[in-house]
Amino acid sequence: MAAPSRLLIRGGRVVNADSSQVAYVLVEDGVVRALGRDLLPPGGAPAGLRVLDAADKLVLPGGIDTHTHMQFPFMGTRAVDDFLQGTKAALAGGTTMIIDFAIPQKGGSLLTAFETWRSWADPTVCCDYSLHVAVTWWSDQVKEEMKILTRDKGVNSFKMFMAYKDVYMVRDAELYAAFSRCKEIGAIAQVHAENGDLIAEGAKKMLALGITGPEGHELCRPEAVEAEATLRAITIASAVNCPLYIVHVMSKSAAKVIADARRDGKVVYGEPIAASLGTDGTHYWNKEWHHAAHYVMGPPLRPDPSTPDYLMNLLANGDLTTTGTDNCTFNTCQKALGKDDFTKIPNGVNGVEDRMSIIWEKGVHSGKMDENRFVAVTSTNAAKIFNLYPRKGRIAVGSDADIVLVKLGLYNSIANWDSGAALLTLTEPPKRSILGGSAQCAAADIDELVMSWGFFVFTNRTISAKTHHQAVNFNIFEGMVCHGVPLVTISRGKVVYEAGVFHVTAGDGKYIPRKPFAEYVYQRIKQRDQLAAVAMGSQPHLNSPRAFGKNNR
Ligand code: URP
Ligand code: ZN
Ligand code: ZN
Ligand code: ZN
Repeated sequence: MAAPSRLLIRGGRVVNADSSQVAYVLVEDGVVRALGRDLLPPGGAPAGLRVLDAADKLVLPGGIDTHTHMQFPFMGTRAVDDFLQGTKAALAGGTTMIIDFAIPQKGGSLLTAFETWRSWADPTVCCDYSLHVAVTWWSDQVKEEMKILTRDKGVNSFKMFMAYKDVYMVRDAELYAAFSRCKEIGAIAQVHAENGDLIAEGAKKMLALGITGPEGHELCRPEAVEAEATLRAITIASAVNCPLYIVHVMSKSAAKVIADARRDGKVVYGEPIAASLGTDGTHYWNKEWHHAAHYVMGPPLRPDPSTPDYLMNLLANGDLTTTGTDNCTFNTCQKALGKDDFTKIPNGVNGVEDRMSIIWEKGVHSGKMDENRFVAVTSTNAAKIFNLYPRKGRIAVGSDADIVLVKLGLYNSIANWDSGAALLTLTEPPKRSILGGSAQCAAADIDELVMSWGFFVFTNRTISAKTHHQAVNFNIFEGMVCHGVPLVTISRGKVVYEAGVFHVTAGDGKYIPRKPFAEYVYQRIKQRDQLAAVAMGSQPHLNSPRAFGKNNR
């Protein structure tokens, strides 16, 4: 049966980054056509129009995961979540777009890497995607290819590694050159901020001391190693007035450096990830080797258990800006490559499926941020920085119909409706599944308890590797109860996940090209350049057409 070409999402609470309203959303040909009240014709739904009842649900822009590594060939093996299964899992978790990384070897062509990643993703990807490209070495060829990628291939972000010595690491002079080039072509520079030399020395020291287990991974790269590189990258980017984006912010120290830099007026953005917001590095000391190894990633999770809360506070108040996952998953047998030497444990954790739920739980349910900030940090800010806005990251007329319907668990219902403490006691979250007749209860991983008070329907989800949709056989958020549960995911107007069932075919996702000079990022950069040029007396007047004309964008 052909899917109806039109959808009407009826009566939900439509949440954008700047406001919320109860409204109908009419979707046609993959985009939002209308937003308002009572969009249902008096005679009821005509043929070809499917009505989705969203009463008592949130209607949110689909999530944008700014940082994934599907099927990444890395550290002698390959990430087990590929573009097919990884993006299906993304959809199940309410994420409708990922931005992955094409990463050439040193000496390799950036264009070839880009085309290689496209050839993996295009036939299999189930949600929309874009590609950042890594700069792992420097030459005239790299410089030229950055321009081609930006001009012809829809790439507006380049990642430089300050770690992985002898593999991907670049030095300060190369960072300077790459940042300068980003600035010329209107891209945003991204860094993996860790001091690779210090890590290499620290690792040697740990192994010499006989520390070979996963805890050695964190011990050889303490917070200062991340904070130092973060400050160094910001200093270099600032010297060339290039906008900078720090990927996977893992520590309080690095986050403080970013917050301070933003207060100093630097154009810098910080991206904590589901892992750093949802769990911590105490797991590296778990007595089960495989358990500890599954948390190994770079930069590491931090043993200071107050880190996730701290990062979430900074995300809530605007010091940090977006959220990704760094989803780069390896099964236990792959992690075992480092059984006798932590430096050989493939680095990477899961998150693409759970990011939205984790941020809802630790951010909104905890009272740190409101629903609008949730949308900002899970999609809107990413869309603005990477120049996808308002096509992505917003529910508005003309935007892609990437939408997720979320049902809230018990505690939020109580909080929203200001019910009394007695009711709170009566309505403790369910300890076990009581699956009712509702179609939305069909998913095995949703614990739903339909209470008899009529308007309350409480939905919680307990995260588990047993029920998640990812390929990896471990979940770093195992056992976490989440109160915000994505029930229906819509990708460019098509219901792709509903009631625990996928309606998606490999290759349904599309590559989304991104233009350079994102307004959100570059307005301040250009203005500063113009002011500097005027001060030097060498450039056209600020308001002249040349200053703000087409050629400058
Ligand atoms: O441990 C990590 N982060 N693995 C993926 C590669 C990277 O550095 O982003
Ligand atoms: Zn990285
Ligand atoms: Zn543990
Ligand atoms: Zn990464």
